[in-house]
Amino acid sequence: MSRNDRKPEAEGAQQPARLWSGRFAGTQDPFFVEFQSSARFDWRLILEDLEGSVAWAKALGRAGVLTTAEVGKLTEALEALSRELGEDATPAAETDEEDVHSFVEARLRERVGDLARKLHTGRSRNDQVATDLKLYVRTELAHLRHECEHLMQALLDLAERYAEAPIPGYTHLQRAQPITIGHHVLAYVEMIGRDFTRFVDAEQRLDTCPLGSGALAGTAFAIDREQLARDLDFAGGPTRNSLDAVSDRDHVCETAFACSMVLTHLSRLAEDWIFFASSEARFLQLTDAVCTGSSLMPQKKNPDGLELIRGKAGRVHGHLLGLLTTLKSQPLAYNKDLQEDKEALIDAVDTTLACLQVMHLIVRNASFDTERCAQEAGRGYLNATDLADLLVRKGVPFRTAHERVGAAVRAAMELGVELEQLPSDKRRELLPELDEDLARSLSVAAVLARRDVIGGTAPKRVRQEIQRWRKRVQP
Ligand code: ARG
Repeated sequence: MSRNDRKPEAEGAQQPARLWSGRFAGTQDPFFVEFQSSARFDWRLILEDLEGSVAWAKALGRAGVLTTAEVGKLTEALEALSRELGEDATPAAETDEEDVHSFVEARLRERVGDLARKLHTGRSRNDQVATDLKLYVRTELAHLRHECEHLMQALLDLAERYAEAPIPGYTHLQRAQPITIGHHVLAYVEMIGRDFTRFVDAEQRLDTCPLGSGALAGTAFAIDREQLARDLDFAGGPTRNSLDAVSDRDHVCETAFACSMVLTHLSRLAEDWIFFASSEARFLQLTDAVCTGSSLMPQKKNPDGLELIRGKAGRVHGHLLGLLTTLKSQPLAYNKDLQEDKEALIDAVDTTLACLQVMHLIVRNASFDTERCAQEAGRGYLNATDLADLLVRKGVPFRTAHERVGAAVRAAMELGVELEQLPSDKRRELLPELDEDLARSLSVAAVLARRDVIGGTAPKRVRQEIQRWRKRVQP
């Protein structure tokens, strides 16, 4: 909302009491209230906030601040709220409260009265939000890993379907050497596989619990932080420096970076397939399920899904840069700047999850024109390297062979034929050492079969890699 958009009736309207109201005599400007409140996006942390509060109530009980009965009442009310808001979080999203933490305290007051006013003892919203955010990131990292695996499954099925089917391979977007479609698809399995491990890695490093760090200096109550960390499933125990704990957002940046890498990879696949689906290439067809048309040109069928994924890479990369810039040069410890982390992180995660899901859908709706792909893999001198290699096998130094095949390509281009179709006089002149059947030894199948190394495109190797990945990816 901009200053001009605000409703006139908002002026002087009754605002809920703030968690910090004692120090203030005047009221806040309504436009400022709107500007600084975070409830409209941090409601997404509602379940994590409730989970953290249950653990905190228990910790206060162990520290002798709350009685067993009080802990029981508070946890029961918090768990009931969690069940209700887990079903429908609209009240949290639409609240007038300043943030998700104030919202929870207000709802808790409705249920347990003044007892709710004891829960925030020894805790600050600073260590609270740091904890909520780690819990949120941890949950989302699991979703992201799951969607990576789901996409990898679809890619593996596609790779298997086309394990042996040839297609032109490119460098500089110029035809280079034939590859199999399966090999091309497996390149993306490798990328998403690395993304998966980045999400695993990000989780390992965030696995320490900030709760008990207070506003900045550590809580003044006898909180058993080891037990608190265990209660919230932080395997790495409590954080070891309260200043760092309340201001550390490394895990937010690392998650945004891992998301950015996913989008970089997805945008490359999108770009490859947009080209493959073009009228110029005609290698790939997408079903109507994942395309749209033009309002003007009746013949159009556009790969919008792929284009949007390519476009959303910019959005997620922007969030990463925004986060790094927000954190840069902030003094210790907490500053309100940190509130800016949430919209960026949440949107980066939501967008990445959606793109992984849509790419999965597109992969399931893609099919290759294998006849055309094979035909084009055999056109345009993609076997020139192999011709040079044949000369090398006859004892010609590679550099010499390279030069002579280059001349043969020039001659073939002038005649408008492929290398294996050179007339016999030209062949005797340019390639006197070779007496074999070039149509056979330079065929696409022969060229593919020769790449029989680990990581090579030989169909046999492609099938082996598919098997290898199948064992690693959870179905
Ligand atoms: N909404 C705040 C955030 O997201 C919560 C912490 C506020 N702490 C404070 N001292 N104002 O960072």
